[in-house]
Amino acid sequence: MTPTPPEPADRVLSRASLAEGSPTAWFEQLYTAASRGEAKVPWTRGKPNAALADWLRPGEGRRALVVGSALGDDAELLASAGWAVTAFDVAPTAVEAARTRFPESSVAYVVADLLDPPGEWHQAFDLVVEIINIQAMPRDFRAAAITSLAGFLAPGGTALVSEVAEENVAPEPGPPWPFSRAEIESVAQGGVRLVSLETIHDGLRYWATFTR
Ligand SMILES: C[S@@+](CC[C@H](N)C(=O)[O-])C[C@H]1O[C@@H](n2cnc3c(N)ncnc32)[C@H](O)[C@@H]1O
Repeated sequence: MTPTPPEPADRVLSRASLAEGSPTAWFEQLYTAASRGEAKVPWTRGKPNAALADWLRPGEGRRALVVGSALGDDAELLASAGWAVTAFDVAPTAVEAARTRFPESSVAYVVADLLDPPGEWHQAFDLVVEIINIQAMPRDFRAAAITSLAGFLAPGGTALVSEVAEENVAPEPGPPWPFSRAEIESVAQGGVRLVSLETIHDGLRYWATFTR
């Protein structure tokens, strides 16, 4: 009989974290386990997101916020295009790793929680980038996370939102917990409106743009 492959560390840690009532504690646990060589962080690629690279526009000093910045590749891409970037992650080990990887960076790497963000970020960013972070928390936290996200966008700005598309993936225990189209569209709230919504990666992910 073929042995069952071990469950990935993100599944094991997230289940324990959620059982203890925290949707996010497992991220720090996963990054620290990875730093000891005991786990793999499945989303680290060592390069920026390809769809973000395709979208890239000159920042001309305007303010950008990268949500769930992990090891910093997307934040650095935006900074290289002239955006004044703040990048945050709930996991202190990820924030420290990004600072260490890019010691000369202009990016402000910050530990913060999308579910309880600093008040001064309200409508403060001309570009808001959310790529596969909200889907990494269970659906109970989705509405609050989306409200925070929409709140970051300044008038005239652009929000880019990409999540796994529920309509094209087989149901599996999370993470991730995929999005429906209606959930993606719900970023359009409180004065934010949808500009475009398409699928990328052969239909597996949504790529949506919003403005205020
Ligand atoms: C699935 S990873 C995606 C990372 C990156 N955005 C990418 O595209 O590869 C989710 C990231 O978001 C962070 N994160 C999860 N929940 C968060 C929250 N509530 N606030 C801030 N960061 C969060 C995690 O620590 C992790 O680095």
